[in-house]
Amino acid sequence: MTRHFLTLADLSVTEIEAVIQRAIRLKDAFRRRELQQTCAGRVLAMIFEKSSTRTRVSFETAMAHLGGHAVFLSQQDSQLGRGEPIEDTARVLSKMVDGVMIRTFEHARLTRFAEYSSVPVINGLSDSYHPCQLLADLQTFYELKGAIKGKKVAWLGDGNNMCNSWINAARIMDFHLHVAGPAEYRPAPEIVRRAGPNITLTGDPRQAAAQADLVVTDTWASMGQEDGKENRQALFKPFQVNEEIMALAAADAVFMHCLPAYRGAEVSAGVIDGPRSVVWEEAGNRLHAQKALLEFLLG
Ligand code: CP
Ligand code: NVA
Repeated sequence: MTRHFLTLADLSVTEIEAVIQRAIRLKDAFRRRELQQTCAGRVLAMIFEKSSTRTRVSFETAMAHLGGHAVFLSQQDSQLGRGEPIEDTARVLSKMVDGVMIRTFEHARLTRFAEYSSVPVINGLSDSYHPCQLLADLQTFYELKGAIKGKKVAWLGDGNNMCNSWINAARIMDFHLHVAGPAEYRPAPEIVRRAGPNITLTGDPRQAAAQADLVVTDTWASMGQEDGKENRQALFKPFQVNEEIMALAAADAVFMHCLPAYRGAEVSAGVIDGPRSVVWEEAGNRLHAQKALLEFLLG
């Protein structure tokens, strides 16, 4: 059966741990400029219906390092932009490439694509989830602080695609996620319900941050949700990750953000550019975590 990676739940705990360990080894090999041709002759198609810097560059570079090739398709320049059905695109690409990464809007578009694809489909971000980012984030946590099981993670801000993926991670990897944000922008109830006791929702950012091992946030207006940005700013303001919030976290707590970040909005410049921020290591790990994922799915 074809394996896809549409949400973190498509991999078991054991598989996620194996991918992370492999990513750490690949990172070490990369530092020594030892590149392994584990995806030689393999081709990954990448469909972008939204903008990207990190996801595009990391997947394209990963395929080059592993001896394969990546094909970039934007919605405007492919027949998708002229209305060719997603089901037809999936069947055609399956005849030519070994895997497809898609960044799109509704998550249902991705699941529909996967239904018609006979090659692995990877979620490069949908309105609902961003699982590739979570692989890199979990790798970063593991490298800096060891196993995440039983730890406290604070999410401050929007109940968006990144928040949903952190909720999935909390359930699968068994840590405690405290989500603090305005009542109007809470994560989807069915996703919260599934996570059960691993998640706590609160309107109090200080309570979420208290003694947390990791504090995470993201933009207050995700791609496609930029309308009414000013109104959002006012609602989200109490949930900014700043020095005062970080002072409540554990003494050795770190700060993560998937990027792009907006200094002075969801995070203060002092925090993102300060000593507890691990965002550059986190961004760099996209390359290694995705290499490990590509090997797992296409290698
Ligand atoms: N974090 C992330 O996915 O960044 P891009 O939008 O630049 O790909
Ligand atoms: N939540 C953000 C993540 C960007 C990588 C968005 O969807 O725009």
